[in-house]
Amino acid sequence: MKGIVLAGGSGSRLVPMTQVLSKQLLPIYDKPMIYYPLSVLLLAGLSDILIISTPRDLPAFENLLGDGSRLGIKLSYLAQEKPGGLAQAYLLAKDFLAGDASMMVLGDNLFFGNGLTPLLHQATASAHQGKSTVFLTQVSDPEGFGIAELDGEGKLISLEEKPEHPKSNFCVTGLYVLDGRASDFAEHLKPSKRGELEITDLLDQYLRRGHLERIVLGRGFTWMDTGTPERLLDAANFVQSVQKRHGTIIAALEEIAYRKGRISAQTLRDAGQAAINTEYGQHLLRIAQEKSLTHD
Ligand code: G1P
Repeated sequence: MKGIVLAGGSGSRLVPMTQVLSKQLLPIYDKPMIYYPLSVLLLAGLSDILIISTPRDLPAFENLLGDGSRLGIKLSYLAQEKPGGLAQAYLLAKDFLAGDASMMVLGDNLFFGNGLTPLLHQATASAHQGKSTVFLTQVSDPEGFGIAELDGEGKLISLEEKPEHPKSNFCVTGLYVLDGRASDFAEHLKPSKRGELEITDLLDQYLRRGHLERIVLGRGFTWMDTGTPERLLDAANFVQSVQKRHGTIIAALEEIAYRKGRISAQTLRDAGQAAINTEYGQHLLRIAQEKSLTHD
């Protein structure tokens, strides 16, 4: 399975912060936003990951993350010339995917919760059996998201993008595990009224065939999308309080890579040394010293 982080868009709801800088490089407390979604793909065990962003911002992402060898993975980069909707990512990534299944995460989404990794594995296993998966969570403001309608047994019935009259408050989060047909299905999509290839329409291709499953992220999980100043601040406050209370670091990419056996203790120590003046760096050094590791 391959991974995609979609980190494009103009960040229009975050101007002037996004005037010269990608939204997905803005800080969420102590690290760039893209660390959080990227950490999800690492937790899922993916090692071949494509980052899609604007031609303006792509060099900055490359400067930040390089070819991925620091994390024991392979990172590639691709430009989205014009924002054409989330589903466009599957058209752009057609050669990269080469018919493989994929896990795509939106570059402004933050997922947190104990037990996320087994759910990611459940979705990747399903994709290899021809079932694709969306991750749902309840929100208080469903008008602003893709919304799922469920029947009495919790089965997915319909999906609607930013509905005026939401049929539920189950939001489709920005994490999609699709089988190898995604690029082909995307080729048959028509732009919506706002001129974009909507992810909801792509997911509907799977739903209509009975090939779309849902995993509900219930209480105990936190999901945030960080595309407005208020949500950016909420996310930063959340990360700060969890990290401070528990003396841990959320989305420490090198730590995950180490726990997954992708990098050595020495590489982890080097990353810690390079950031020695930060909690992040000191956390990596502590992990490198641990004798027994608890996973995930
Ligand atoms: C996008 C999707 C929407 C999804 C949301 C999650 O909305 O179109 O279905 O619920 O991401 O972050 P956007 O953030 O582009 O408004």
